[in-house]
Amino acid sequence: MMHIIYEPERQRIAIQKSGRLHKASMDFLSARGLIFPPNERSLILPCKNSDIDLLLLRDDDIPEYVRSGVADFGIVGENVLAEKGIELPVIKKLDFGRCKLVIAIPSDSRIKTPEDLEGKRIATSYPKLLAKYLAKQGVEASIVAISGSTEIAPELDLADAICDLVQTGSTLKAHDLVPLFVIMESQAVLVESPKSKVAKDRFLSLINLR
Ligand code: PRP
Ligand code: ZN
Repeated sequence: MMHIIYEPERQRIAIQKSGRLHKASMDFLSARGLIFPPNERSLILPCKNSDIDLLLLRDDDIPEYVRSGVADFGIVGENVLAEKGIELPVIKKLDFGRCKLVIAIPSDSRIKTPEDLEGKRIATSYPKLLAKYLAKQGVEASIVAISGSTEIAPELDLADAICDLVQTGSTLKAHDLVPLFVIMESQAVLVESPKSKVAKDRFLSLINLR
């Protein structure tokens, strides 16, 4: 099985390993005719009916894999591309994975306006986008950069507020948090590598996009 990885003519599509976009990304590719074996913990899934391998990655890593050409394509949120500051050619906005990057606070918080964030601690895995927003508002707050599970930070007193993604809102609700301001709206996009030399049109015509 290992040899599959190194065959140059196979194309690699990077998608999220688990989380909000995983199933929607698999469904998108399946609906366009690609068949994948059931996933048994492998991080590379060879497509059963074409020369395509799925790379299952942390969403935060997808922009770099695609930028460097290790993956030929990627399905990733616009929010992740913006945070990484990596610009990639977008083939298609996918109309799923719609979400908002928000600042949220505990439901009993006294924070009401952006100015109320002055001097407060905000936990986030989007430190760059948050810093930009705060600078625009002229507010100085301390950014607590963590890589996930941001929603538990206020109840553990690691932060006074969080800046995180909301899709259905159920994660916020589970932690008694309410959204206050929207920093960015986002959806999933299909991006292509500026580096990949293999014929990209083969995959795109396979899934009826070119
Ligand atoms: C995001 C975010 C929340 C969740 C919110 O994670 O961090 O955990 O989605 O969704 P909800 O409003 O529907 O409950 P994501 O899947 O983007 O991956 P991450 O773990 O890399 O943040
Ligand atoms: Zn992530």
